[in-house]
Amino acid sequence: MDNTTRACDFVIFGAMGDLCRRKLITSIYHLERAKLLDDDSRIIGVARRDETTPSFIDKMLASLKQFLNWDIEPEAWQRLAERFIYVKINLDKPDEYYQLHDVLDLEKRVTVNYFAVPPSAFGDICKGLNDAKIITENTRVVLEKPIGHDFASSVEINDAVAAVFAEKQIYRIDHYLGKETVQNLLALRFANSIFTTNWDHNTIDHVQITVAEEVGIEGRWGYFDKSGQLRDMVQNHLLQILTFIAMEPPVRLESDSIRNEKLKVLKALRPITIDNIDSKTVRGQYTAGFLKGGPVPGYNEEKGAKGESGTETFVALRVDIDNWRWADVPFYLRTAKRMPTKLSEVVIVFKQLPHNIFGKSNRKLSPNKLIIRLQPHEGVEIMMLNKVPGIDEGVKLQQTMLDLSFSEVFKVERIADAYERLILEAMRGNQALFISRDEVEEAWTWIDSIQDAWAELNEQPKFYPAGTWGPVAAVTLLAKDGREWEE
Ligand code: BG6
Repeated sequence: MDNTTRACDFVIFGAMGDLCRRKLITSIYHLERAKLLDDDSRIIGVARRDETTPSFIDKMLASLKQFLNWDIEPEAWQRLAERFIYVKINLDKPDEYYQLHDVLDLEKRVTVNYFAVPPSAFGDICKGLNDAKIITENTRVVLEKPIGHDFASSVEINDAVAAVFAEKQIYRIDHYLGKETVQNLLALRFANSIFTTNWDHNTIDHVQITVAEEVGIEGRWGYFDKSGQLRDMVQNHLLQILTFIAMEPPVRLESDSIRNEKLKVLKALRPITIDNIDSKTVRGQYTAGFLKGGPVPGYNEEKGAKGESGTETFVALRVDIDNWRWADVPFYLRTAKRMPTKLSEVVIVFKQLPHNIFGKSNRKLSPNKLIIRLQPHEGVEIMMLNKVPGIDEGVKLQQTMLDLSFSEVFKVERIADAYERLILEAMRGNQALFISRDEVEEAWTWIDSIQDAWAELNEQPKFYPAGTWGPVAAVTLLAKDGREWEE
């Protein structure tokens, strides 16, 4: 594939919003700096605010200064600034979309409409675009999460978009799929024979997926409280990571093959219901605690908090996949806010050897582990046993680590942000890194069952002080299976 994009009109709905200012504009800047945008591509900001193109450019520059964490290269900014156009539209007024008709060049360019707005506005935008007759087969839409808060609401959103766009035009974002290391899971699994042949219930004991966040609610209490960590993180990011680990080899490295294999995994997830909710899940919520040496408030004392909420900020699950490859191999998932550190990683714990010939000096042989660090310090580690050098009697073994750190091995200046990759792939028309409708709906069906069971139980979350690894019950979840979390 060509390294640059086809000429594209990249239309951002919600151009004055937080997502655009923090993520989209900084990512587009990096694409510009790396010369990955076609010379004729344009960035069209759409919002209801009274702005002009020059004032919009000023605002985008201010956003870059605030959020880029990188020096702004004057030539790159100059090139980027020339691409901007601002169009003022009230998203719920269909007749205002005609203004885009005069701006877009449907003959010359692909149009990518990025919906950086709440999903309740998706239907209006689709209708507006359709009425204004600015949709061709070269028009795409990128949908930000959340696609609903349960199965029923996701169907509603998907239906509203599908009324105007075909599935092959719809790009649903899960920004974890844009992360370098999540991408690398495919390479690791399907380009290395040591893993392709050792990747099932014969050799793997269990899998742990941890997505720990240091941040709390960050002024989003209103949104988060209706969602909780299960819907906010597990339904999308953790399940997507799980599908990459668990899926069968796709026939080709292209979107349909990959998405079909991921869907099969989601369909094979054993339901968690009221009958097994207690033994398979832990819900927690942080209380006041200490992080990085300073005090931090509890969830219910965060800015914007209203009353004593029982919403979970911590989730741990034992997930079973009912298929041939993963029979009796539990996947333990854990994600939370206000953990001691930000860390996302997958640990594949291999089985114990059937017999220990080193029993005299080593009563127990620790299992091999493959640790895939998704963030930060992206890389891969293998834990293995080695003989401690020396001529003493007996063979002393010690666990050692083969450590492949991406930044050291590849000497990359910086690892691209997930949004950079996703924006570029949407411009190129590659859906492989986006979620299909079937995946979203299958994931919601599985999550709804957990959510319903929790509602039926009607229990308080288990409390944990901010800055710790969660409630004791999460330790017990693994301990009762004779296992423990990797710390
Ligand atoms: C978002 C969630 O999807 O992902 C946030 O809504 C969460 O609550 C964020 O903090 C985590 O993303 P990352 O890339 O920082 O791990």
